[in-house]
Amino acid sequence: MPTSLINKYNIAGPRYTSYPTVPYWEEATFSYSNWIKTTQKSFDQSNSNEGISIYIHLPFCESMCTFCGCHKRITKNHDLEHPYIEAVLKEWQLYTDLFNEKPNIKELHLGGGTPTFFSEKNLKKLIDGIFLIANKAPNCEMSFEGHPNNTTKEHLATLFNLGFRRVSFGVQDYSDKVQKAINRIQPFANVAKVTYWAREIGYTSISHDIIYGLPFQTIENVIDTIEKTKSLSPDRLAFYSYAHVPWIKGNGQRGFNDKDVPKDEEKRKLYEIGKSLLSENGYFEIGMDHFATKNDSLYTAFNNNQLHRNFMGYSHSKTQLMIGLGVSSISDSWYGFAQNVKSLDDYYFMLQNNKIPVVKGHILTQEDLIIRQHILNLT
Ligand SMILES: C[S@@+](CC[C@H](N)C(=O)[O-])C[C@H]1O[C@@H](n2cnc3c(N)ncnc32)[C@H](O)[C@@H]1O
Ligand code: SF4
Repeated sequence: MPTSLINKYNIAGPRYTSYPTVPYWEEATFSYSNWIKTTQKSFDQSNSNEGISIYIHLPFCESMCTFCGCHKRITKNHDLEHPYIEAVLKEWQLYTDLFNEKPNIKELHLGGGTPTFFSEKNLKKLIDGIFLIANKAPNCEMSFEGHPNNTTKEHLATLFNLGFRRVSFGVQDYSDKVQKAINRIQPFANVAKVTYWAREIGYTSISHDIIYGLPFQTIENVIDTIEKTKSLSPDRLAFYSYAHVPWIKGNGQRGFNDKDVPKDEEKRKLYEIGKSLLSENGYFEIGMDHFATKNDSLYTAFNNNQLHRNFMGYSHSKTQLMIGLGVSSISDSWYGFAQNVKSLDDYYFMLQNNKIPVVKGHILTQEDLIIRQHILNLT
């Protein structure tokens, strides 16, 4: 590809997980009652066919990684776990009250923040509570994001017993200098340990997140990170482009300046070298940022033209209705999108008042729906 063409399109854009993307949502068309109507319509059309998906956002992290663009709350106070789980279950109850039959859950993902901030006991309580008022659809896909520094064997065993078979671990980069700059000290041994445990317990898809373009990251660092990653043979890999969010200052913990972040040609080289190393090592690029080995179900879905992308990432099963629970989560009813309130206090307040805590969104027009379908046909 000519450099001029790359430079022309080398501009920051929104995360491409919906059409229209979040910055183009028209708030004027969105209302609480519109959202409820589209959710009920979508549920009636899809629950008894393909079932529905659930995304649960678990926002707490014990320490601040200063590169992070996720919605999180930094705290060491684990007393926050219990009320949060109770609130998520209340939100789920409010949704199920809208439906005239029990939801059939086809896909469930725990994201964050850090799901493994929560004790295994509380995670079990959460999942048991979800399925107390829902059915598990046949071949239900359950996955979670684990932090290698705090995922325990008990977390992995408990979630496996609840039906989870997929786990992704945040790795980012193994260089000491990069880890120090992003305030995330995470030795290879920690990642190796959780990866072995997950495999030993029986997880069938283990994924690692790595990033190119981090502060101070060099070509040698990318090569070393991919070599170390390869030695643990994850089934999937996310190779993300570092999204630089300079307004996040990290409470003074940020060990880098904007000038330390590789840009343009320098950043592109990190990607090119990473991508070619991944393909030499048996990882196939199945979509934006995502790679999988031939044994992984995403690779099969890619080959059979059955790959789907939604707010949770790539998946091989498609559901028309995805309900996002927890602060900042985004829901998708196919006819509309809705985002939950971001502040914890507001989230609790709205739930106490029996209100599903959506605060912004977009209802798709006929034209939006046609374009959305065409985009899906292309992928
Ligand atoms: C919620 S975290 C994963 C779970 C856990 N909190 C952890 O850090 O291990 C999701 C992933 O998003 C990616 N990520 C976060 N901020 C990013 C950014 N600014 N640019 C690119 N990727 C980012 C990281 O790879 C991270 O592992
Ligand atoms: S990368 Fe993960 S652990 Fe670090 S702040 Fe972000 S969500 Fe929390």
